[in-house]
Amino acid sequence: AMVTAERIAALEARALEGGGAKRTEAQHAKGKLTARERLAVLLDPGSFHETDMIKAHRCTDFGMERNRMPGDGVVTGHGTIHGRTVFVYSQDFTVLGGSLSETHAEKICKIMDRAMLVGAPIIGLSDSGGARIQEGIASLGGYADVFLRNVLASGVVPQISVVMGPCAGGAVYSPALTDLVFMVRNTSYMFVTGPEVVKAVTNESVTAEQLGGAHTHTAVSGCAHNAFDDDMHALAAVRLALSYLPQSSRAPPVRLAPVDDSPLREVAALDEAVPDDSNLAHDMAAVVRVLVDAGSAFELSPDLAPNVLTFFGRFDGRPVGIVANQPKCLAGCLDIASSIKAARFVRMCDAFRLPVVTFVDVPGFLPGTHQESGGIIRNGAKLLYAYAEATVPKVTVITRKAYGGAYDVMSSKHLRGDTNYAWPSAEIAVMGAEGACEILFHARPREEVAKAVADYKHAFSNPIKAAERGFVDAIIQPRTTRRRICEDLAMLEHKKLDNPPKRHGNIPL
Ligand code: COA
Repeated sequence: AMVTAERIAALEARALEGGGAKRTEAQHAKGKLTARERLAVLLDPGSFHETDMIKAHRCTDFGMERNRMPGDGVVTGHGTIHGRTVFVYSQDFTVLGGSLSETHAEKICKIMDRAMLVGAPIIGLSDSGGARIQEGIASLGGYADVFLRNVLASGVVPQISVVMGPCAGGAVYSPALTDLVFMVRNTSYMFVTGPEVVKAVTNESVTAEQLGGAHTHTAVSGCAHNAFDDDMHALAAVRLALSYLPQSSRAPPVRLAPVDDSPLREVAALDEAVPDDSNLAHDMAAVVRVLVDAGSAFELSPDLAPNVLTFFGRFDGRPVGIVANQPKCLAGCLDIASSIKAARFVRMCDAFRLPVVTFVDVPGFLPGTHQESGGIIRNGAKLLYAYAEATVPKVTVITRKAYGGAYDVMSSKHLRGDTNYAWPSAEIAVMGAEGACEILFHARPREEVAKAVADYKHAFSNPIKAAERGFVDAIIQPRTTRRRICEDLAMLEHKKLDNPPKRHGNIPL
């Protein structure tokens, strides 16, 4: 017999209820939104189209046949963000702890497959007790099905994860494989093994927040990019982040109508931005913020390795990725953490066709046994590799120091930088004057060394030698930097460059 509208409505109503009023209350009491509330905040109003609303599990172990919930703990479908299609899944902690069953995984995989088919971003909101214990290995298979799709989608469609509750055990490897990972302070945590297991195995006492909270992952482990105070802010940030990214690597990034006064705007204050004394640091974050279209700077990983900065931003409406050494932290040197942070960012930009604009003030690589034994060679090589293989437009501005191997690494002309500029304050050399003269003249009297330092500074601590060789295209007045970047990005818009055919490169992981 034809199923009645009432019967369908009853099933759908049950799905909408999730785990019921009591569990919804508990969710709210923790300061968390429910799975559906989150989607309402994330997506354009009224744009959500749900898929598999009443899909339910088939498990009959442990009495699970009496515990079937339409939807099975995850809300999936598609909608729009700023009018652009996105695919979403939102785990519902009120239903069986948001735990992942075979069915739950099938729902996620279905929308991931669809996102790949049409070329649209995938956004996953995690809030889950992990593998559904009653289903055993079927749920492990489900995880692997999701992981495989994460990997195949990598570099094809943008994938954003927001960890908004527990994300434990194998579950962590889905966010880990995605392009951007956001977390919520005090209500989200990610770890491979939780505090109880840690205590049992290592006898270490640690809270969930210390072990895998937002601070730990954004400031220490680097497993997440940005942390937010609550669900609303995290979801607003996803909307913002997506505005810089294309629908897929098949499509160019979306240029917005420029909001800024003018691409030709001169920034007079920049002429004074770099102090005369080369031991005084200037704030590169301020330089970036004043150069991009007003209000368009979105910093990624602000709490990790602050000696290098990574931003999304726009110039004359065109989205770009920005990498900048930050001389205010560790003098802006490159170390293991900052090399990995910047390398990953450059590769994401290159995958999604975002031009990379680089601001250089780098005294070199951080010296020391800690760095060497930690593998600064292999890890610094990641950044070198990322810049060298990137085929997107690359614009580089050396504001002050560009010394040694770090000069080569930071999007130099030699690594196929398209346009490379130096401010008059630039110092482009093998090393600083004092260090160089101590090596060259170590046996000579002090006055002679002092004279050599002065000579070296005159000869090398400036951008002239580099400009004479064409290693920089021009020495520019800082105030004109914004105009140059805007004009270059327009000139480079249809850049076409391919790397040699290969199965894939072998970046030194
Ligand atoms: N499988 C099946 N059900 C699960 C589950 C899982 N992995 N994780 C949680 N649940 C269920 C709980 O049984 C509980 O059900 P109920 O509401 O019917 O009583 C509900 O989800 C909420 O869990 P609860 O433990 O009450 O919530 P909490 O906020 O106190 O704790 C966790 C959350 C995630 C810390 C806790 O649920 C947990 O440790 N889960 C197991 C995590 C794990 O190790 N998973 C396997 C790793 S792959």
